[in-house]
Amino acid sequence: MRVDPDYVEEDEILRPYSELEQDNSYYVSGVAIYPEFRNNKIGQRLMQRAEFFARIEKLDSVSLIVFEQNTGAKKLYERLGYQVIGSRGIVPHPLIHHTGEALLMAKEIKSGGWLLDPLELNYSGFLVDGGDSHEAV
Ligand SMILES: CC(C)(COP(=O)(O)OP(=O)(O)OC[C@H]1O[C@@H](n2cnc3c(N)ncnc32)[C@H](O)[C@@H]1OP(=O)(O)O)[C@@H](O)C(=O)NCCC(=O)NCCS
Repeated sequence: MRVDPDYVEEDEILRPYSELEQDNSYYVSGVAIYPEFRNNKIGQRLMQRAEFFARIEKLDSVSLIVFEQNTGAKKLYERLGYQVIGSRGIVPHPLIHHTGEALLMAKEIKSGGWLLDPLELNYSGFLVDGGDSHEAV
């Protein structure tokens, strides 16, 4: 994401989200897992994949917006190293099922080191998953 500092969103419903942007960042506009597949670390792996792409593109961070009331998702991002770097009040709208604040969270991407695709690693792990043991190949 490249931020145009001169751009002003005219729609007052959308303006808070338009203001919650970080320059030179890999922006995750949405992540959702079917309920029956949640709590299997899929969300975590998708976020790690976003970090992988951010590294390839030599971006400074991964960023996203989460509603403050979505405490479960916020907890997950915090556990993965994301920090709240901005917030705006939500403008009420029938399609927005939250009130309170929208939070911009970001995680710095450090350059250098190994470039490993977490989903490829995961696939290898599943291939050799035997009972209680999880071996990497
Ligand atoms: C947020 C979401 C993508 C996480 O995906 P996931 O595959 O279940 O996540 P993981 O298995 O990698 O991690 C699970 C963690 O999610 C967090 N979490 C997310 N939603 C939660 C909820 N409703 N209740 C409790 N914990 C929740 C917990 O911190 C949990 O951590 P734990 O294992 O330490 O308990 C998924 O819950 C989802 O699709 N939610 C609905 C859509 C949504 O809110 N998207 C986020 C928009 S910013």
